[in-house]
Amino acid sequence: MIKKPMIVAGVMSGTSADGINVALVHFPARAGGRNAVKLLGHAECPYPGKVRSAVLSAMNARQASVADLARLNFLLGVLYADAVLATQRRFRRKADLVGCHGQTLYHQSEPLLFLGRKVAATWQTGEAAAIAARVGVPVVSDFRPADMAAGGKGAPLVPYLDYLLFRDPKIGRIVQNVGGIANLTAIPAGADASQVLAFDTGPGNMVIDAVTEALYGKALDRGGKIAASGKTLEHVLRSRLRHKFFRAKPPKTAGREEFGREFVREFLHACGRHHKEDVVATATALTARSIADAVGRYVVTGFTADKKTSAWEMILSGGGVKNKILVRMLAENLTPLGVRLRFSDELGLPSQAKEAVAFAVLAYETWNHRPSNVPSATGAKRPAVLGKISYA
Ligand SMILES: Nc1ncnc2c1ncn2[C@@H]1O[C@H](COP(=O)(O)OP(=O)(O)O)[C@@H](O)[C@H]1O
Ligand SMILES: [Mg+2]
Repeated sequence: MIKKPMIVAGVMSGTSADGINVALVHFPARAGGRNAVKLLGHAECPYPGKVRSAVLSAMNARQASVADLARLNFLLGVLYADAVLATQRRFRRKADLVGCHGQTLYHQSEPLLFLGRKVAATWQTGEAAAIAARVGVPVVSDFRPADMAAGGKGAPLVPYLDYLLFRDPKIGRIVQNVGGIANLTAIPAGADASQVLAFDTGPGNMVIDAVTEALYGKALDRGGKIAASGKTLEHVLRSRLRHKFFRAKPPKTAGREEFGREFVREFLHACGRHHKEDVVATATALTARSIADAVGRYVVTGFTADKKTSAWEMILSGGGVKNKILVRMLAENLTPLGVRLRFSDELGLPSQAKEAVAFAVLAYETWNHRPSNVPSATGAKRPAVLGKISYA
């Protein structure tokens, strides 16, 4: 079969619910290997304020209106399509295929008793049929359920891209994304895909955003300015790090279920009447410290017996890169572990585009009937072709 070159638009909206990232990715006729993936352009389209609020309340809701959720599904489909169309206009390129992650409203990776049967469940919303109709090309969506049906946790899925782009014969790579949640992919030097370890390390920006909103009425601590003027409350930090999520062994996944409203309420309570800036600084330190702890406990030590890995580097991406204090705290915590901090941008992949690029790559694999979960990362019993296809 002769394949044609293809442009795929990857569309990602993460747990921060800040908006939509679109990446236009070119695949040559003979794809294979890291040089095959070429980023043509990427754009960020923030959600309108009302949409962000609706998404956040749907995620946090104990009860929600079915009608509103159904409407939100179609509304997000239209917003995703418009984001793709705007990106196509900006870069004067047209996609042949869209890969859309959707907005996660609920993710429960462990089977729990429900109506007499144990079930795990995940739900990404954003109607793919609406995207396909509006953009005029097929859409691959709903990537997580196939991995869960194969016994996996449905997450993380980005390790497929991390392994493709960042594996190195000599240097161990820790590919760390700091979005709403922080997650890492650890690739020992010269590893094959079965040796990749990936898991969520805990909160990324989620707790920082929430305490900044609660105390300052601002959506985020821009540049880490507030944290810069405060100091870490060590006793609060230590007590929060005893949370059972941090003590659990990988693989593990986190979301608003672990670090959403309830966690933040307890966090603020533990901070008591300390200065507001100290509270934000402590939330920032929680992200930095929990990442470094995970690296120390599960990555660097786990692979020390592995003689091929002469050194470890962390490659950082996600919105958290823009928080200078977070980056500084992270670097300080990594130095004693002998891990050098680098940025995804330095290696040719803009840090805000990475996850959107990942969903373009996963869509491309699905379109070609190839599996793209990493079973060692998700815990799946077998490789699975991910997603569902909606035709235009
Ligand atoms: N200029 C900035 N300063 C500090 N934090 C920022 C800045 N820009 C983005 N962020 C943080 O990054 C988050 C979005 O990161 P992103 O990688 O898009 O996460 P997600 O994948 O969860 O949507 C925002 O919610 C915010 O906390
Ligand atoms: Mg985002």
